[in-house]
Amino acid sequence: MRVLVIGSGAREHALLLALRADPQVDALAIAPGNAGTASIADQHDVDVSSGDDVVALARKVHADLVVIGPEVPLVLGVADAVRAAGIACFGPSKAAAQIEGSKAFAKDVMAAAGVRTASSEIVDSPADLDAALDRFGPGAGDAAWVVKDDRLAAGKGVVVTPDREVARAHAASLLESGHPVLLESFLDGPEVSLFCVVDGQTVVPLLAAQDFKRVGDGDSGPNTGGMGAYAPLPWLPDDVYRGIVSQIVEPVAAELVRRNAGFSGLLYAGLAITSQGPAVIEFNCRFGDPETQSVLGLLDSPLGQLLYAAATGTLADFGELRWRDGAAVTVVLAAENYPGRPRVGDVIVGSDADGVLHAGTVRRDDGAVVSSGGRVLSVVGTGPDLAAARSAAYDILASIKLPGSHFRTDIGSAAAEGKIHL
Ligand code: AMP
Ligand code: GLY
Repeated sequence: MRVLVIGSGAREHALLLALRADPQVDALAIAPGNAGTASIADQHDVDVSSGDDVVALARKVHADLVVIGPEVPLVLGVADAVRAAGIACFGPSKAAAQIEGSKAFAKDVMAAAGVRTASSEIVDSPADLDAALDRFGPGAGDAAWVVKDDRLAAGKGVVVTPDREVARAHAASLLESGHPVLLESFLDGPEVSLFCVVDGQTVVPLLAAQDFKRVGDGDSGPNTGGMGAYAPLPWLPDDVYRGIVSQIVEPVAAELVRRNAGFSGLLYAGLAITSQGPAVIEFNCRFGDPETQSVLGLLDSPLGQLLYAAATGTLADFGELRWRDGAAVTVVLAAENYPGRPRVGDVIVGSDADGVLHAGTVRRDDGAVVSSGGRVLSVVGTGPDLAAARSAAYDILASIKLPGSHFRTDIGSAAAEGKIHL
């Protein structure tokens, strides 16, 4: 099987490594890729938001399967174009990708499917802001305000704060630039990312993971695209895991089918395990980054065959997934100033070590690998338990040099120490 992967992050680097390990995969291509993926796949520079360009590339490399990593091409309908060209595609249609692309659509689907989620309100005029803020936050019984940019924002458009002025300032600046704001009730409790391979009504869950959205240790500082992740979750009881699949993901998949927007691809449920049980923070229409780097680090089943089964509507026959024992911890190395405008163009030393996945990297003409984005590398450590996987990841990180870079030192530490309780 010849597989074309679309994307350029450490998630796509992890997808390529897992695809390469599948004995039925014999050729890999990627667009646009990065300095790390260039050594394991044929790299092509095309506009991945253009269905026509992706189809032309898929034909050129004779792809049997196209795997679309990021949300932007999915929301724009690139998977529809690939399927219309008669090529199997892992990734939802434009209609189904609205589960991530439109928060209003996602809330409507969840309401129809009877799934618990935060209550929310859209504010589109500055004149309505203060009254709306009064209906959320500490005055309304929530520990914090949750203020979201109502567009795709790569995880960075969300401010969660107990400080009304901070909440107000974020909302006001979005409104001033003409963007509607979503206010949500605050969901308290540890977060879970559950990735499910879905084709229509068939749902195959992967290992549950947890990611770390804030930039600093102890969940301090602003939200980012994700600074680290670990899997599996030793503190998540099996019945809660199974309940998320049967009471949240399966009903949502069924509701999408009912709306003629059946989902084919990776349905990602982001949840908080509240005192009243799991509640959805958001759905995404693709693999999450950096959780994928941890989850795929433990997958023993052949990924190419799994994704091909979903893409061709035969997932129900695929059977149970197999996982390696132990744990995987991913730590993101970020450029100076990330999640603000990152410093780029610095030489990275040590980025070719085992367990290092590339994201914002390019190879310069002189052969040096240099930084080109905010999240530069993902370092993945595995081991018999979380503590061992943590040490493995941080040992690799210690051998990498990038001026001004930063990373969190506490990825998976609370779970490793048994400090997460439901
Ligand atoms: P999102 O971009 O919607 O994934 O939000 C980014 C992060 O903000 C989530 O991973 C949570 O940590 C936090 N967050 C978003 N919505 C809520 C909510 N309603 N209650 C509590 N935390 C939230
Ligand atoms: N890990 C968060 C995301 O991929 O959206």
